[in-house]
Amino acid sequence: MHKILFLSDLHLCAAGETIIGLNPSARTKAVLDAAIADHADADAMILLGDLAHRGEHEAYRDLQRQITDLPMPVIPMMGNHDRRDVFLQVFTDAPKTAEGHIQHVFDLGNTRIITLDSLDGPPYVDTDHAGKICPARMAFLDTALAARDGRQAIVCIHHPPFDTGIAGMDKIKLTDGDGFLDTLAQHGNLHLICGHIHRTMSGFARGVPWSMFKSPCHQGVLDLQSPNSHLSSNEPGAYGIALLTQNGVVVHSEDVGLQDRQLFGGYTTKG
Ligand SMILES: [Fe+2]
Repeated sequence: MHKILFLSDLHLCAAGETIIGLNPSARTKAVLDAAIADHADADAMILLGDLAHRGEHEAYRDLQRQITDLPMPVIPMMGNHDRRDVFLQVFTDAPKTAEGHIQHVFDLGNTRIITLDSLDGPPYVDTDHAGKICPARMAFLDTALAARDGRQAIVCIHHPPFDTGIAGMDKIKLTDGDGFLDTLAQHGNLHLICGHIHRTMSGFARGVPWSMFKSPCHQGVLDLQSPNSHLSSNEPGAYGIALLTQNGVVVHSEDVGLQDRQLFGGYTTKG
């Protein structure tokens, strides 16, 4: 059985900077250490975008240092906080399309994995964090799904193409998400994995099952009313795991850094 690790929304910064008092570099290291300690046998690791907090060159260098010795290939994706040109200055060998998008397709056994780039720009507008899939990126997706020789698929994109009920984030979801979902639904036999929300969630949209994970760093807040897209909490960091089976995909999420975590081999009863 093949296995893929996921880290979502690392938000790495320049050295010494923090986000809501958390150090993104240290939090990423802690999650990577925990994920590799238990899953060094994973076939790949996918980073679901927002690698850097403000597209900083220094943040991408930090990421490069942290993943360089990992025992599996790492596939980075773009999120709304990333800057494609700065990323490519550091990750010079990153797979990119003829149009310059950071997208990748690979197969693990009976599963095709497709990672997409939903960063809107250039030009980049710092006040607009919504995502975009242009005709070229849609064509890339359509071709990759059409040519998979009967394989099941995992499709990864940073921006959810659906409303989550978290009002602040729904304002900055994927633009034309319905068209994107219709393409996925027409192809079928796939699972969609998104970033952006910084929470463990699952559901289905237009018949397409989806999952998302918490961040190694700061987490989203379950506030269904607030229009603020920056609400964050300092809950533990986390990573995700997809197990690729003969009949589909099993998705797990694991928290890291629970200070009082204890493991028990059986129940204890009183009296
Ligand atoms: Fe994010």
